Amino acid sequence: MMFKCPKCGSRLINFICEKCYHKIPVHNDVKYFCDEENINVKDEGYKYIGYDDINIHFSPSLIYWGIDHYGIYGASAKDIVKRYGKGIVVVDIGCGLGQATIPFAKAGAITIGVDISEKMLEFANQRSKNKYDNLYFCKMNAYNLNLEDESVDIVVENAMIHLVDNPEQVYKEIYRVLKKDGKFIRFNSVGLPITEEQKELSINTKNAFKDIRNYYYNALEKYGYEPEDFNNNSLEIEKNYFYTIFNNEFHPIVEYEEEFTEFMKFRIHRLEHKAHSFLQHIPDEVHNIAWSETDEYAQCKYGEDYKLMKSYSHYKAKYDVYLKKILD
Ligand SMILES: C[S@@+](CC[C@H](N)C(=O)[O-])C[C@H]1O[C@@H](n2cnc3c(N)ncnc32)[C@H](O)[C@@H]1O
Ligand SMILES: [Zn+2]
Repeated sequence: MMFKCPKCGSRLINFICEKCYHKIPVHNDVKYFCDEENINVKDEGYKYIGYDDINIHFSPSLIYWGIDHYGIYGASAKDIVKRYGKGIVVVDIGCGLGQATIPFAKAGAITIGVDISEKMLEFANQRSKNKYDNLYFCKMNAYNLNLEDESVDIVVENAMIHLVDNPEQVYKEIYRVLKKDGKFIRFNSVGLPITEEQKELSINTKNAFKDIRNYYYNALEKYGYEPEDFNNNSLEIEKNYFYTIFNNEFHPIVEYEEEFTEFMKFRIHRLEHKAHSFLQHIPDEVHNIAWSETDEYAQCKYGEDYKLMKSYSHYKAKYDVYLKKILD
């Protein structure tokens, strides 16, 4: 096993340290390698956006496609395991609700889902229905992965690194745990054509959403708050550790398509539930007032059914593979 003791760094055997005998605590089947607070907390200068508050409201697939639908994530995970072999060790950092993690386990990879949010992990674990003995959900901080050097075949990261205060530290950890020929993978998609009519409808819907969102932001401002924009420059930093080759082998398009028309419903749902990293500092009372004013505005301007305004996107699954640079 590739797990390391969070107390002394030695190897774990069945989640017990072979040196100091520390036993990894387990609650609701989640393994606790750390117990950092996780919502907008500054700890040793780092800030964590653990998404604990957001929980299930984060994910469109759960709300609109249901709990067992893994969509383009599932298709990519399956393709990756087919390409690189069953039995590979996959770590999903910032695994959230397990959208990528569970399909990797299902496809036969030894899979470790790492997140800082207990609620996310517990939900992900319930979602997997304890079906896979090759699947481990671990409360672990991406800044300090309790995994041995060069022990992992594939690290996947989706919608996580752009959230952290110190992306460099996370890349260093990914680099350290990956085997020499290990791969760093991020999921993606490619759009497929839609009709002119669908395009026009989609533009209307997206403009309406922007207008509603701006109204909400202005309402926040009235109460002395604004969204906290943070651009941590992660993609630039990534280039110091990983590189890619622009061909089909490293950017495969997966033969799986999906259609999504509920952009408005989904984006409004997230706004309504404050399910964004850049809104986490807004007190609930302020959000609730600003949101109810916004909702009223939206109903007046776009009609009571404004959440049902349709847009069209049609896409295939795709993923991007990066290799370790040789560092001097
Ligand atoms: C936007 S969600 C993405 C979830 C999932 N990867 C997906 O694409 O559905 C970001 C996740 O990163 C986690 N996260 C944020 N900072 C973290 C850290 N320092 N260590 C581990 N996980 C972290 C959050 O708790 C959250 O579950
Ligand atoms: Zn130990």
